[in-house]
Amino acid sequence: MPVTTRRIVKGLLGVGLVLAILFGVFLWLTTPAAADIHIERSAQRLMRGRTIYNLAHCDVCHSTRDFEKFDGPVIPGHTGAGLVFPPRLVPQGRISAPNITPDPVTGIGEWTDGEKVRAIRNGFARGGRKLIPIMPYEVFAHLSDEDLYSLVAFLDALPAVRNEVPDSRFDREVQWHFRRALFMSRLERTISSVPEPNHNSQVPYGEYLVQIGQCAGCHGANFSGGNSFHESPTTTVISSNLTPDMATGIGHWTESDFLNRFMSYRRYHTDGAPTVPDEAQTPMPWLNFCQLDEPELKAIFAFLRTRPAVSRNVPPFGTHPGNTGQLH
Ligand code: HEC
Ligand code: HEC
Repeated sequence: MPVTTRRIVKGLLGVGLVLAILFGVFLWLTTPAAADIHIERSAQRLMRGRTIYNLAHCDVCHSTRDFEKFDGPVIPGHTGAGLVFPPRLVPQGRISAPNITPDPVTGIGEWTDGEKVRAIRNGFARGGRKLIPIMPYEVFAHLSDEDLYSLVAFLDALPAVRNEVPDSRFDREVQWHFRRALFMSRLERTISSVPEPNHNSQVPYGEYLVQIGQCAGCHGANFSGGNSFHESPTTTVISSNLTPDMATGIGHWTESDFLNRFMSYRRYHTDGAPTVPDEAQTPMPWLNFCQLDEPELKAIFAFLRTRPAVSRNVPPFGTHPGNTGQLH
């Protein structure tokens, strides 16, 4: 090799090494340390933790579910045991959500409480890797300290299930999208404490719950619905208009209509959900939300009532082309 080429190669290797070191330092500086905390388990925390777990519908991603049945109920004994999403719902790769039961080998049994809090609130795996944002930690960053601790207490009390879940895989384009997003998200401020919402102030409490329940993620930022969900290649379900518009929203619903709608799914939660064709499936987490208590559902309703009415006609569930859902 001529001397000049050798120099250039050496120079490039040097630059590469410096960049790698700088990147390492960047990762180190932008990975918050897990807090050194011990979360006490109490009956009150377990109850509240269950509410937060259902509202945040952790089951939808982290529990092994039966997608042949209405709303994909958890297979008994598999709460938090991990899930590989059915390929028909994920054409761009394989999404799997890890086992979050206390199993020490395949779950998070060996994690410290601080590491669990950091994963849920800030989106870091145990070793400091940033989790892909399919895990809604940006939403969970709004959980109050007490709600987050209750959630962790609830997770700790789940029966440990030994179930190894493979990693998520994406095609190149999606992978780059995530890499860029994860790099940028490291520059954001790390949230380390969130005050308790006032449970007696219905509208702000409802706003808090709606955020944790990710209603806007599916019903749109202004809650007027219209988002499409493909339950099979031939079936599309469209999210409903939840604004107080009289003609196209839920303006004509009373508070008890709203409560009853959620409660009506409780029999599926207690007795088991029926087997349904893809056409009758819905992504709306009814089986989790139906377990919420009245004060929470009432606060959610009160908050939705304060949203501006938006006229957007969404055909009711069961009347979309190819959708034969008759269950409601
Ligand atoms: C929309 C789907 C989704 C929901 C809802 C969701 N998660 Fe996740 N979660 C994921 C995915 C996917 C990962 C893996 C991300 C990765 O490996 O980069 C994950 C990772 C985690 C991890 C890290 C586990 C590990 O082994 O690295 C924890 C802990 C966790 N989630 C807890 C929760 C809790 C608690 C809830 C409910 C409050 C929840 N998640 C709701 C999709 C979800
Ligand atoms: C994963 C997506 C998803 C999330 C999250 C979600 N929804 Fe839905 N929701 C839907 C879809 C799709 C429908 C229409 C199909 C059905 O009724 O099951 C729907 C229907 C509804 C209905 C029935 C409306 C009607 O006119 O019949 C109500 C009420 C509702 N959602 C409220 C909520 C609330 C409140 C939240 C948050 C706490 C929420 N949803 C979160 C997807 C979602």
